[in-house]
Amino acid sequence: MSRIVVVSNRVPVPQGNAGQAGGLAVALLGLMQRRGGLWFGWSGAVTEAGGPPGITHRGGVGYATIDLTEAEHRGYYTGYSNGVLWPMLHSLPHLMTFRRQDLDIYRKVNRRFADNLVPLLRRDDRIWVHDYHLLALPGALRQRGVLGATGFYLHVPFPAPDAAAVAPGIRSLVQDVLQADLLGFQTATDRDNFAATAVGFAGAVRTADGVVELGGRPIRLGVFPAEIAAPEFAATAAAQAAAEPSRLLARSLNGRPLLLGVDRLDPTKGLPERLEALRRVVARRAPRSLTMLQIAAPSREDVAAYRLLRQEIDAAAGAINSEFGEPDWTPLRLLARPQNRDTVAGFMRLARVGVVTPIRDGMNLVAKEYIAAQDPADPGVLVLSRFAGAAAQLASALLVNPHDAEGMAEAICAALDMSAEERRARWRECWAAIAGASPEGWGLEFLRALSPGDLDRLPA
Ligand code: ADP
Ligand code: G6P
Repeated sequence: MSRIVVVSNRVPVPQGNAGQAGGLAVALLGLMQRRGGLWFGWSGAVTEAGGPPGITHRGGVGYATIDLTEAEHRGYYTGYSNGVLWPMLHSLPHLMTFRRQDLDIYRKVNRRFADNLVPLLRRDDRIWVHDYHLLALPGALRQRGVLGATGFYLHVPFPAPDAAAVAPGIRSLVQDVLQADLLGFQTATDRDNFAATAVGFAGAVRTADGVVELGGRPIRLGVFPAEIAAPEFAATAAAQAAAEPSRLLARSLNGRPLLLGVDRLDPTKGLPERLEALRRVVARRAPRSLTMLQIAAPSREDVAAYRLLRQEIDAAAGAINSEFGEPDWTPLRLLARPQNRDTVAGFMRLARVGVVTPIRDGMNLVAKEYIAAQDPADPGVLVLSRFAGAAAQLASALLVNPHDAEGMAEAICAALDMSAEERRARWRECWAAIAGASPEGWGLEFLRALSPGDLDRLPA
């Protein structure tokens, strides 16, 4: 029976800690917990060890992880992955900081992943590599004689060829990732941009719809939007709305409508723009007439842009509260720390407006979670950036351009004033788009495309 082998930089090894905020871990955990298999990646620890992978078994999943050295963490994770690829892939080139040695270390760590993974592989494993940290891995696996079905999935956007070209080293990394058999993307735009880049400057040839060839080998390109377990999330939200944290929050609102943002503290999430929109909303509405809660989990704090962003939003939040606050009320509550995901589900159900306004986002699972968390009889309204992958599926949300503060403020006000009838109608259409999907379905669709006809042999 063939086994699923997932490879990703971030591995949520179950250790009873608060859990990692991040869409990749959320999407894959749902699949792996149900299907079992091997999950290989970084332990999250930085040590000088560099020994063989440590393996933990939990409920049918083997988690095999290696530590990174300080220099690897700096060059591969902080430097090239999050200082170059992440901003380039999200079309924020001004946030890139490139150092030649970081690219070398990125390649070296990808090779070290391959060296440590290969001895754990079985002949008929289905290998599924994830995200921008591991673009060189499919090539490194082939070089080490791995011939079996290998897939790659990009959780983040892929920009147009001109925008991709700004990242030094990208050409050969595109060639490396093309050593996979199937490449998956969140949206058709990402797939088409990648194909144009592969053809435009990585030497690939387009041979059919959704197929490119490199050196005579066909590579398939597909669209597989990441999904959440919507009915389960809905049940959690309904139960959590009655639990202590949600009760305390509800009581503190004194009947005021709640606006809610939930993000990693990341430059792609559009937090300064969102606070500017909030400032305009607060300025035009009566004092004490709303409360916004923004939860922003610190992330990648070794990257300078993330530290600067923290200062920027702390200052913007302080400015809003000092300008518009009253002795007995402040418009904004900003929490720079992660919250338990179940607790957040309860908060989402309380919120009259879900504010999800990234500058650019591969999918944005928070948007889907917000829809799932609503009470169908009295749902809130999702204000969603049109530059999130989720906008392709949630077209009945109020779609906004995060660069247009006035437009966002208008949308938030429209959400606050929307009739119950319109809220229900919009919510029903959004719910219909996510209700039948699941992380497991998402994963199996990819794996089915990776090796057609083999699905029946997947572990049940
Ligand atoms: P990204 O993958 O860029 O972080 P997504 O919206 O796709 O963005 O996924 C984020 C996941 O992490 C969601 O499941 C969300 O609920 C969770 N999350 C994000 N920020 C927080 C936070 N501040 N506290 C708790 N959970 C969070
Ligand atoms: C996004 C990326 C993931 C990453 C996650 C959290 O979802 O696509 O690859 O794991 O953010 O970021 P971190 O750097 O903490 O792993």
